[in-house]
Amino acid sequence: MRIKVAAIIVAAGTGTRFGGLKQLELLEGRRIVDISLSIARPFVDYVVCVKTPTVDFGSLEADMVVDGGDTRSGSVRIGLEALPEDVDFVLVHDAARPLASGNLYLEILSKLEHGSTAVVPVVAVSDTIKEVEDGRVVRTADRSRLFLTQTPQGFSKLVLVEAHRSGLDATDDAQLAEMIGVPVDVIPGETSNFKITTMEDLDRASHLLKDRIID
Ligand code: CTP
Ligand code: MG
Repeated sequence: MRIKVAAIIVAAGTGTRFGGLKQLELLEGRRIVDISLSIARPFVDYVVCVKTPTVDFGSLEADMVVDGGDTRSGSVRIGLEALPEDVDFVLVHDAARPLASGNLYLEILSKLEHGSTAVVPVVAVSDTIKEVEDGRVVRTADRSRLFLTQTPQGFSKLVLVEAHRSGLDATDDAQLAEMIGVPVDVIPGETSNFKITTMEDLDRASHLLKDRIID
């Protein structure tokens, strides 16, 4: 039987650091949430968009639109509950990363098809990372072992459901999988696939698209 894939696009945040609903901001005339939905669409059978409750997002190109929770993990759980029974793989993606490439989706899916049950894209950190306490450095981390984690993150549905069973919150889904002992594989991420967090990030994304540095 053919493998069935779903995408959960989480767009239910309130954008505290941005100062508003960043997922509804325009990039080249299109809303960030719409861009993220349209990138995922060709690679999956089913798309769930999780939106901010109490806010009217208007029309969304998704098979199902649901109201999210108070935390990102809560929103993913609500998205998971909305999936059809027969889904094998789930890709969870931050709507706030509108510059993820289609190739990244393909690479994640390829790892899942080859037996991984949890896959995340990562990029090496280029700065030296220090742990600071009360205004003083307490430790310098070994940079060669540190990576920044992106989305889409791919999982077998069973693993993702199990990882979320605890009901705990984490800033990404892989962490919940790690917590239950699931091996999490990595693939190379993309430096252009940064998360729009502040207004400066939106300007940067807008410049990248205008100059056609990325498609
Ligand atoms: N998200 C969500 N539900 C939440 C919180 C976040 O679906 N309760 C989504 C956001 O919409 C975003 C992604 O998770 O696409 C990553 O979250 P983040 O960048 O932290 O967005 P916000 O939570 O909106 O921003 P902030 O933390 O600054 O408030
Ligand atoms: Mg947040």
